[in-house]
Amino acid sequence: MGFKPVFTNRSVSASRATPNTFARELFAPLPRRYNTLNQVLSFGQDRRWRAAMVEHVVGAEPRLILDVACGPCAVTKRLAKRTDAKIVGLDVSADMLGAGQQNVQRSGLQERVALVLARGEQLPFADETFDALTFTYLLRYVDDPAATIKELARVLKPGAPMANLEFAVPDKLVWHVSWWCYTRWVLPVAGFLTGGKGWWDVGRFLGPSISTHYRQYPVDWTLRAWEHAGIEHVERRTMSLGGGIVIWGYKSGRS
Ligand SMILES: C[S@@+](CC[C@H](N)C(=O)[O-])C[C@H]1O[C@@H](n2cnc3c(N)ncnc32)[C@H](O)[C@@H]1O
Repeated sequence: MGFKPVFTNRSVSASRATPNTFARELFAPLPRRYNTLNQVLSFGQDRRWRAAMVEHVVGAEPRLILDVACGPCAVTKRLAKRTDAKIVGLDVSADMLGAGQQNVQRSGLQERVALVLARGEQLPFADETFDALTFTYLLRYVDDPAATIKELARVLKPGAPMANLEFAVPDKLVWHVSWWCYTRWVLPVAGFLTGGKGWWDVGRFLGPSISTHYRQYPVDWTLRAWEHAGIEHVERRTMSLGGGIVIWGYKSGRS
């Protein structure tokens, strides 16, 4: 990769970190066709959601961005397209990062993007390193979402934007029922038919994972966790009848 991010001695290699085994095993068979299948299985909504999230950090004209849980780098590439920043993509899965590296190279972005194998819960960077931070579909995979949000906020400079994309559960009964049927029945079968056993497993996992997460950590709880982590002006936008949510805010202490 073209530039080297500055690490601190807080660095913990993902291979030594035991708590994330589930995420690494779940994502191991997926990278090859991840972006294409993601689009198919979300009816093309995924791309809209990522674009909406990225717009919340673009206005700050960041020079250095951290993209946490970057996977195969769809968000990373979008950030590169919409800003002039250098971008660090970070993920706990070596397989996903391998696909990310190929995507970055295919797009000729290797001078602007560096990829790092590490955990979102324990970032190998000093306080106040980044001008902006994005994270996507991360909090359902961590043991302590509040502590993870705090850790993400730690590496942001005062005033810097943070933006997140996550699946959500539609509120309205009619959409809720449709969403439930889609995630419990259609998603596993469509996943299997388009991507085989790995995507069947993800399809079966995804719906219950989203429901369980929001039972434990409702959206209002999450917004408060952002504020407790020192992020202010926190806002949210639900998209696609409530199937996706973008949250954004700014690290406090802007002069
Ligand atoms: C659904 S994928 C999303 C990838 C990408 N951001 C996108 O929009 O397509 C979730 C990613 O989170 C990563 N992940 C899960 N737990 C993580 C953790 N604790 N720290 C960093 N990355 C994690 C997975 O390896 C996976 O690549």
